[in-house]
Formats: sequence, C-alpha cells, structure tokens
Amino acid sequence: MKKNLVVVGYGGMGSWHVAHALESDVVNLKGIYDIDPKKTELARSKGIYAYSSYEEVLNDKDVDLITVAIPNDQHKDVVIAALDAGKNVICEKPVTLSTALLEDMIAAAKKNNKVFSVHQNRRFDVDYLAMKQIHDSGEIGKIFNIESRVQGSRGIPSDWRGMKQYGGGMIYDWGIHLIDQIMMIKGKNVKYVYCRLDNITNKEVDDGFKLELIYDDESRAYIELGTYNFIAMPRFYMQGMSGTALITDWREKAKVTKCKYWHESDVVPVETAAGLTKTMAPRDSVTVDEYEVEKPASNVHDYYRNFCATIDGKATQLVTYEDMLFDMKVMEAAFKSAELGQVIEF
Ligand SMILES: NC(=O)c1ccc[n+]([C@@H]2O[C@H](COP(=O)([O-])OP(=O)(O)OC[C@H]3O[C@@H](n4cnc5c(N)ncnc54)[C@H](O)[C@@H]3O)[C@@H](O)[C@H]2O)c1
Repeated sequence: MKKNLVVVGYGGMGSWHVAHALESDVVNLKGIYDIDPKKTELARSKGIYAYSSYEEVLNDKDVDLITVAIPNDQHKDVVIAALDAGKNVICEKPVTLSTALLEDMIAAAKKNNKVFSVHQNRRFDVDYLAMKQIHDSGEIGKIFNIESRVQGSRGIPSDWRGMKQYGGGMIYDWGIHLIDQIMMIKGKNVKYVYCRLDNITNKEVDDGFKLELIYDDESRAYIELGTYNFIAMPRFYMQGMSGTALITDWREKAKVTKCKYWHESDVVPVETAAGLTKTMAPRDSVTVDEYEVEKPASNVHDYYRNFCATIDGKATQLVTYEDMLFDMKVMEAAFKSAELGQVIEF
C-alpha cells in the first residue's frame, strides 16, 4: 500500500519532491508544510493540502512518512520531532552539520524504531553510475586515481546557502553529494584528508573547495567544486593500471582508452614550439583501444521505492547510518584540514 507523505519545506527541493510524489507508485502526497505563508498559498492554489502548523503534521495519524527539505541548520530538530511523533523520515542532504548532531538523529530513529535516511539522490546520476560501473568491472585495471569535478560560473546562490548560520557553503551543498559518490565507488578506507576552501565571491562560507582523499592502498580521490569557473574541467577522470576513463560533461557518455600494448617500437615524437618529446607522444590504435560506455539505466524514484520497501521490512535502506556517518566525518575532516592548513589523519 502507498505510504502517506508530507513534504516539509515547499521551496526549490520540496517542490521537486512534491512533483515526484504526485506521480509516484509508492507514496501518496498528503500535503506540505512550510513556515512561509506564501508557500502555503502557492500549494493551496495548486490543490495541494497545506498544513497550518508542524504540530498538525505530527498529530496526523495518517502520515507515514515525512520528507524534510528546509535549510540545513534546521534539519536536526525537525527530523527528531518527526521521529518522536512516530513518523518515518527522509531528510534532505546534508543530513545535518556535525557527527554529534547526526548521532542524536540516529538515536531518535532507533529509539522510535522508525526508518530514517538522507536523500542521496545523486547516487542515481548516470555519470557517477558509469564511472562506478567502469571501476567495478575492472576493465581498466586497478584504479589508482579518480577525480570528480563540478564547476559552474555563477557564484554561490545568494540565498541561505551563502550564510554560515543556515549551514551554507559548498561543502555542505555539493560536497556531500560528491563525497558520497566517491565513497560508493572507492569504499571507506580513507587514511588522509586534505582540503582547501575557496572564498572568491563569498567570504562567509566556502564557495568552492579542493578535497583530496588518500586511501589505505595509497590510491587517491580528488574532489573539486567551483562556482567561478568560466571554463569547466571534465566531470570525471579515472586512471587504472590498464587505461583511463573520462566523462567531459554530465550530459556525455564515458570514454575509455585501454592499453593493448605497453611498448611501442617507433614512437613518433611530438614537436612543440620549443622542443621534442617522446614521453608525451600520443598513442594510436596499434597500442590502445578507444570506446564509449552506454549511459547506465537509472530511475531516481527508486530511492523512494527502497525507502517504502524498508518501512515494510522488504528491503534494507539504501543510504545506511554508516554511510551517513562516513560522509559527515569526511566533511568534518575537510573543514578541519582547511582551517589548520594540514593533512588530517582519518
Ligand atoms: N538533493 C538535492 O539534489 C538537493 C537540491 C537542492 C536542495 N537540497 C536540500 O534541500 C533543502 C532545502 O533546500 P532548497 O533549495 O529547497 O531551499 P529553499 O530555500 O528553496 O526552500 C526551503 C523552504 O523551507 C521553508 N522552511 C524554512 N524553515 C522551515 C521550517 N522550520 N518548517 C517548514 N518550512 C521551513 C522555507 O520557507 C522555504 O520555502 C536543503 O537541505 C538543501 O541542501 C537538496
């Protein structure tokens, strides 16, 4: 049976949840709640039931599930109140602002025996899925380096995301997605974390960052987020012992170049303006194979399908507490590294 859902926060992301809920095979949209009366009016103008207080949502016995899509600093209290009222909860990312706060939320879920998870929707992005597929298949050998970049040129949004008190900044906003994706590809055996923050258009919170993770096996992941890049670098770049994979842009397919023969008898040197190089000479079809990888199939509503199946005891939740805690600890280590200007042992 469909679960009755209320979306708390009817802003940008709340509207997204509402639009998906209206077409869902697993949830039935019961309504929304927003502190802003204009959002209440907007919902009502669209025929969506708008609760007049959060208490009304919590006291509604028909509500099975609450999705929380409000500014980051408020997640913890609103989520714990929902769990204590016996509701299952999906919380938008970042689930909260520190490991200590997250532990309180997890404790509330366990105490009330409710399902609680964070909306890591970018586990359904096909660029990430393609990279994970290439990584897991072993087709380019053991991976020793992966780079994930998202770069725009419009600065940090001028809303609460630009303000520290609301949990603004790009590590919390985009970093959480990119850290989670890398965790899904590389696992959790991180040994060191090093991070630098950008403050190009905003001095209060990070408007970009460069984060390096070093793993127990010495392999590396590099995550870069920029909001002042008028030319963007490739979305993903991955190096394995027998090839390289690249995604230039999240609309594009992955390209793979695989090494067939390591040695070449006659390397034609590249002639640059000031000299010759054999080391950097490009390869040709004699020694490498080049191909594209089809975009993997993906349906972001599988997140809700999994969540509802977990409520019914028919699945285990996709984004686990261990995942949530790991992502949070990496973000904390990144902030600490940036503050101290040091590599942090993880
Ligand atoms: N997963 C994603 O892809 C994704 C994308 C965008 C935003 N988000 C997350 O969604 C959350 C909301 O972001 P947004 O872009 O929708 O912000 P927004 O500013 O567009 O909307 C937030 C809404 O919450 C309302 N609100 C604030 N406090 C409230 C409270 N205590 N109770 C009820 N309503 C309240 C505001 O009035 C506003 O309508 C953030 O945590 C953000 O990080 C996730």
